[in-house]
Order: sequence, then C-alpha cells, then structure tokens
Amino acid sequence: MVDAARASGKVILAGEHAVVYGAPAIALGIDRGASARALTLGASDASTLRVTFADGITLRVVAGESDEPLAKAYAALLASLRAKSVAVDVETDLPAGAGLGCSAALGVAIARAVAGPSDDEVREHAMAWERVFHGNPSGVDAAVAALGGTLSFIRDGDRSIIERVASAQPLVLAIGHSGTASSTRTMVASVARQRTRQPALVQKTFDGIAAVVRNARLAIEAGDLRAVGQLLDMNQMLLAGLLLSTQEIEAMCVSARTAGALGAKLTGAGGGGCVIALVETRAIAEHVLEAWKGDGKTGFVAETAPARGIRPVVVQAGAAP
Ligand code: PMV
Repeated sequence: MVDAARASGKVILAGEHAVVYGAPAIALGIDRGASARALTLGASDASTLRVTFADGITLRVVAGESDEPLAKAYAALLASLRAKSVAVDVETDLPAGAGLGCSAALGVAIARAVAGPSDDEVREHAMAWERVFHGNPSGVDAAVAALGGTLSFIRDGDRSIIERVASAQPLVLAIGHSGTASSTRTMVASVARQRTRQPALVQKTFDGIAAVVRNARLAIEAGDLRAVGQLLDMNQMLLAGLLLSTQEIEAMCVSARTAGALGAKLTGAGGGGCVIALVETRAIAEHVLEAWKGDGKTGFVAETAPARGIRPVVVQAGAAP
C-alpha cells in the first residue's frame, strides 16, 4: 500500500463548450491539488474518509453508510479499486465548486493512496468517484488530475482522445474567482438552446474556438507565450458571443491585461466561476492578483503541474457526450 499521494487540479486553457460537440480543448494540470494518506484497517472495520477543504472545513464519512454523495462516491471508488478496509485522510488546497477539478483531484489522490494504481488505471477508478458527483463527466478532470502537464482533449463519440501537448516551459497563470457561482449544467444547456435556435451561427463560433485551440497548441509547443495570450483573448470573445461571460468576468479580464497579463479569459463553464490570466512571470501574476484584490476578487498564482507518465497518447473509452 502507498501511504501518501498527490493529484493535480485543472484549468481549461481553451476550448470549453465547443469540446462538448467534438472540438478539441486544451487543459492544464496545476500545482494545486489534493494529497491523501491511507491506513489499512482490520477486515471487519468500515472504511472511513476525512476530507479537509481549502477553507478549513472538514467532512467525515463512512463508505456507503448514507446517501450523501461523498459517502457514495467513496464507496464506489473503493469498490472499483477492490480495496480492503482503509481509513483515508485527504486534503485539498483547491477551492471546491470553482471549475478547478477539486473533486477529481480528491478521487485520484485517494485512489493513489489506497492502491497505487498506474496513472492510466487511476483515471478509470477515479471516474467511478466522479460519476457520483457529476453524472456524465467528460473525463477531462480525472485525466488531468492523474497525468498533470498540458493535455489536448477530444470527445469522439463514446471515446475521449487525450494527447500530451509538449509545452516548451511551465505556464504561469493568475487564477481569480469572479465571486459568482457557476453551474456547468445550466451553461451547457444554454449553449445547447442557442445551437438549436441558430445552428449555423453557433457552429461558426465553435469552428472559431477549434481554430484558436489548434493555434494555441502550436504556440505552446513553440514557447510563444504572446501568441498564446492573444489566443486566450480571442477565445474569451468567442465565449462572450455565446453569452457565457459576465460583467465581473469582463472586468477581471480587463484588469488582468492592464496589470501586464498576456491574455485572459473565463475557464470552464462561465456565467461566473473563475478567470485565468496568462503571465510571463510570477511577479506579474502578483500584480494581477493585486489588481483583482482592488476590485474585491480573490485569487492565486498557479503553474503547470509536472507531467507524469511517459506515454504520449492515451485513448480512453466510455465517455459518451
Ligand atoms: O465546469 P468545468 O470547469 O469542469 O468545465 C466545464 C467545461 C464544459 O466544456 C463547459 C463542459 C464539458 O463537459 O466539457
């Protein structure tokens, strides 16, 4: 048994929403995440879980003891791992419910601490945990939590095609919360309604986003951060055209660019949630955080989490759109 383990949080750098309809997205593991320890118990003991969140709140559950999602997800994960009785202690420095992959990072860290599966296997096990919280997750969060680094992600029918993007250097981001909660389900449904009403127009936007993602990948691989920043700005405009931005998000993007960011956009579902700003140095990231603080917004600096594993391409089955 492995007794301590880590997993990464994530941001979607480019391509959210269009990814639901088969366009590529780029997601990044960040150096915040979750860390877990596991202790083997006697065979007749019930498995327990203690989760400490970034705001200091602690939850304790017994696997499968109640209908509470955390207890159900823990039981599903242990069943997938075929684990014996364990006591797990996991903590995260990611804000929960902010689109930063908190639940996937917890699931991957717990699976690693309990059973130490390979990086590929751990993704599959963590999906059992993720399905309890998110119904039909695309799997991008679990993939990034397990693999770190920078990934290209495509939904292709019932498969997901995941490739490593060879980043010339770790990307530095300022990540700030707009102060409004974001519902992935609601925002995905809103885009679906627009697509039904104006299919040609929405398809043009998706095509634009796909072009941004393809170019962003090339720019990341070439280490051209200025180009990546410009592409993030373009992605933000296209997302705003789908009514996914808010006044707060727009104001945060403007503040970030004024403070020296190379580009800024919402990340994930939009309608609230987090903004990411690409910067050249941690010092500039601190300027961005100061500017956001002046507007009453909180945030933190993150870098790309180191990539794990050596396999460049992973094809994952079973993630139907
Ligand atoms: O809520 P998040 O940050 O995990 O991102 C949702 C991303 C969407 O593209 C809007 C939805 C999806 O399933 O990919």
